[in-house]
Amino acid sequence: MTTEHASATRGPVAAALGATVTASGATALPSTGAPASRTTTRPANDAPREGGLQDRFGRVATDLRVSVIDKCNLRCTYCMPADGMPWLPTSQLMSADEIRRIVRVAVHSLGAEELRITGGEPLVRKDLEHIIAGIRADNPDLPISMTTNAVGLDKRAQPLRDAGLTRLNVSLDTLHPETFAELTRRPHLDKVLAGLEAARAAGLGPIKINAVLLRGINDTEIVSLVDWAVTHGFEMRFIEDMPLDGDRSWTEGAVIPARDIRAEIETAFSLAPDPRGRGAAPAERWEVRRPGETAVAGHVGIISSVTEPFCAACTRTRVTADGRIRSCLFSHEETDLLTALRDGADDEGLAQIWRDAMWVKPRAHGSDRVGLARADFVQPQRTMSAIGG
Ligand code: GTP
Ligand code: 5AD
Ligand code: SF4
Repeated sequence: MTTEHASATRGPVAAALGATVTASGATALPSTGAPASRTTTRPANDAPREGGLQDRFGRVATDLRVSVIDKCNLRCTYCMPADGMPWLPTSQLMSADEIRRIVRVAVHSLGAEELRITGGEPLVRKDLEHIIAGIRADNPDLPISMTTNAVGLDKRAQPLRDAGLTRLNVSLDTLHPETFAELTRRPHLDKVLAGLEAARAAGLGPIKINAVLLRGINDTEIVSLVDWAVTHGFEMRFIEDMPLDGDRSWTEGAVIPARDIRAEIETAFSLAPDPRGRGAAPAERWEVRRPGETAVAGHVGIISSVTEPFCAACTRTRVTADGRIRSCLFSHEETDLLTALRDGADDEGLAQIWRDAMWVKPRAHGSDRVGLARADFVQPQRTMSAIGG
């Protein structure tokens, strides 16, 4: 594998405030959760000096995703290596107050309309309720969702709701304990199911269930997962496996394409496009009906990042747990917002660093078939666990 050349990086305002962009490109194995260390100076970019987070292709990012920790209590094969994952030192993690400030800038200065808390696993942070309560105090009407594996949620669902969390997306790829243990390398299916029950009881709905489909592992469970989700009032999400794994063992051949997922669901249910449409969401949504019934039994979403990419409508902007802006899941560049914040940048200074970073968001990710066919797709150094979903 090649090592990515150090990339450009320092807009005029960012430079004045000491912001740098690091190249977080591909490296030889093993993968790490930390960004690559090489940095260089970037020529000024021509990002707007006011308004929201626009890019050169006319997209505006209003969907803010903040990772609060890189650690996780599972080791899903599509996400992390079995061991050897280097964690960020605590001093590099954003504190609750720093997260609160960054969200405030995004919402009040840059027009962010919704917040997704991600990890790693957010529940690993003991101060998660405090983080959410602070954000809620600043932003009474902001939808705050969280992507979690639900391990330990049984005891924290109600406190999280009380702190101001709106709803949840729960990662659950299988309903079989043995498959769960193989896929996550931990025997915790019962904990996830207990967490889901508690989340429902606490009113953290609608709850969406994320299942990454892996050939030969859980691809036989598509129909049973839909049946289970519809029965329990959850909204199923099937996700094409993306090349963001820790083992660097992703292959295109292992991806279950969205069209095959739809066909498999239709062996047992009928699907109709959800009239609410998709907007900028990763998932294409479908209404699910049981055979012979006219009433809608539930909904499923299919996330086709590999075979039917949705980059043209992307509204997402991400901040890693160490306070770096990523304009795209597959970015090779990151912009260090946290150092500028710690160095005393004011809100407008931070906002401009963010505008500069998003302005150069790539048009698309290059992990689609065309990109792969070119054989030059380069996996970013950070794994999904270190970026957030
Ligand atoms: P809501 O956002 O809650 O409506 O749910 P959703 O099911 O539409 O998608 P969500 O944002 O929860 O993302 C689900 C999964 O889609 C993630 O875990 C990723 O695997 C993938 N995903 C999310 N955002 C992106 C993105 O910007 N690009 C790509 N390629 N994949 C994404
Ligand atoms: N491909 C697709 N989705 C992934 N996730 C994690 N790793 C991958 C991957 N390689 C998703 C899981 C989880 C969320 C945090 O990210 O669905 O729910
Ligand atoms: Fe957006 Fe990047 Fe995801 Fe494409 S891959 S949808 S550009 S974040």
